Amino acid sequence: MEESNKIKGISADGIDRRLSVAPMMDWTDRHCRVFHRLLSPDALLFTEMVTADAIIHAGAERFCAHDESEHPLALQLGSSHPDKLARAVEAVAPYHFDEINLNVGCPSDRVQSGRFGACLMAEPELVARCMTAMMGASDIPMTVKCRIGIDDMDEEAGLDTFVDAVADSGVKIIYLHARKAWLSGLSPKENRDIPPLDYERAYRLKQRRPDLEIYLNGGIVTTDTACAEMARFDGVMIGRAAYKTPYILSEIGEAAFGRAPVSRVDVMEKMADYAAAQIADGVKMHAITRHMLGLYNGNSGARQWRRVLGEELRGETDARKLAAAAYQIEERIAKWQAA
Ligand SMILES: Cc1cc2nc3c(=O)[nH]c(=O)nc-3n(C[C@H](O)[C@H](O)[C@H](O)COP(=O)(O)O)c2cc1C
Repeated sequence: MEESNKIKGISADGIDRRLSVAPMMDWTDRHCRVFHRLLSPDALLFTEMVTADAIIHAGAERFCAHDESEHPLALQLGSSHPDKLARAVEAVAPYHFDEINLNVGCPSDRVQSGRFGACLMAEPELVARCMTAMMGASDIPMTVKCRIGIDDMDEEAGLDTFVDAVADSGVKIIYLHARKAWLSGLSPKENRDIPPLDYERAYRLKQRRPDLEIYLNGGIVTTDTACAEMARFDGVMIGRAAYKTPYILSEIGEAAFGRAPVSRVDVMEKMADYAAAQIADGVKMHAITRHMLGLYNGNSGARQWRRVLGEELRGETDARKLAAAAYQIEERIAKWQAA
């Protein structure tokens, strides 16, 4: 990668991944991604994980349809079958994703019984074959999202062996959730909090393999941490904080990239237009508003906003009321600040 590209944060393939919003099942659906895009003009957004089987059997449209504004957009796949992954990659070609990512981090029982997700960290050669098959089916970047280890795997040698095997297959980009997954005894939710974070282990990997782009994920909840880790790694991937406190996406844009802060009212004006079109197509208001409940978190109007969106407007069909609700909250905040 050219140094000039590196400084700008643009990868050799032209995508700026310095800030990514993590794939989150049931959360990062297309409505959520449209909302996140309004808060961050070029963060790389991820779909929820979709299994290769689902795409092959149920068809790609249901999982892959999206709004043009969502780009740059990565599709995350789950599977451990090289041939199925290649077929899924071919099937999604018409949707023009900017990147396709393999999930090697999910610890759920359902995923383990399908022999994919985090348990694949114990099978580096199989993951390498999966990636080779995916790369053979498309020219767009194929990337991996993994943990620093599983169970009693040696965090040093185990992670190095895994990453080296995957890199040998041609993968250049890794999103690293910097904690182990413990595959028995913990729920997926617990596996996102209980195994300790180890950013230094992740950083040792970055130092050992400076040729790879490594994006740090896990536990980043403040703009300061995001900026500090962006300087050590190629960038950061933010999950729960982007969902629960979405305005952090604008704050990181300001602090890290010198952008003007995004206006929440502008976001809601645009979301109202989007919602009007979606409601006309039969989508329920709540399917869209459920992702926006945290927009004012950290502000005095946060609770009122959650109540208006989550209760009062739940069954509403007039999308303009979304923007009106935002103006009301802003007025309330202004009064509170003046007092
Ligand atoms: C509700 C939820 C669903 C998730 N679904 C996925 C998924 O589909 N694929 C995946 O790789 N990780 C998934 N994750 C994990 C996140 O991508 C991320 O790695 C994890 O939350 C740690 O980052 P954070 O501390 O910034 O949230 C999910 C997390 C949450 C909270």
